[in-house]
Amino acid sequence: NNHKDNSRGGLIVLEGLDRSGKTSQSSRLLSHLEGQGLSVESWRFPDRTTCVGNMISSYLTNNSQLDDRTVHLLFSANRWEKRSLMESKLRSGTTLIVDRYSYSGVAFSSAKGLDIDWCKAPEAGLLAPDLVVYLDIPPEKAAERGGYGGERYEQLEFQKKVSQYYNVLCDPTWKIIDACLPVDVVEKQLKEFVMNSIAICQKGKPLSQLWS
Ligand code: TMP
Repeated sequence: NNHKDNSRGGLIVLEGLDRSGKTSQSSRLLSHLEGQGLSVESWRFPDRTTCVGNMISSYLTNNSQLDDRTVHLLFSANRWEKRSLMESKLRSGTTLIVDRYSYSGVAFSSAKGLDIDWCKAPEAGLLAPDLVVYLDIPPEKAAERGGYGGERYEQLEFQKKVSQYYNVLCDPTWKIIDACLPVDVVEKQLKEFVMNSIAICQKGKPLSQLWS
């Protein structure tokens, strides 16, 4: 029947400040979904394994200097270079759990003072997520968690600005989870949002594009 033809995986995006718990929640979620017998992969941006990703990584670790607009476009290119693979995975029924996406791109670059619409422009036409979950943590609390690894953006004052831009980007479809709750509670809430979203994609929800 028609439903089966259009069945696909879900594009699930986790967003939040540095140290909000995205990475550990992604891996918990991955195990859970695999345990349910679902086809699922865990992705992250920046994807530091590509040539573009290498340039980004060297910038983040302060091993190179790049103009703010240049690095913004590299982050965007890093998503564009994965777009066709992303689409084919989703169409073949694989759910992708993506740790950071275009919203990080826009929030972090806008926090440096770049115009927000300028920042959004190169993201237009990338695949739109089926679900955005924002792990909400006050910047001060994130800083207390320690383990800011010394990368370029891992500073309290900067993270405060990033959180303001996440607020601007946030729309009513985003699911917000209080990231200060115990990890198990966060995990449980996350699973529920994700399972609902996957079910809708399996029924044949069309893929759509960001900001275009
Ligand atoms: P990570 O710690 O999740 O690997 O991300 C590295 C840093 O890059 C993090 O501080 C967020 C920032 N970032 C951007 O500035 N723009 C982007 O498009 C992405 C995906 C991340």
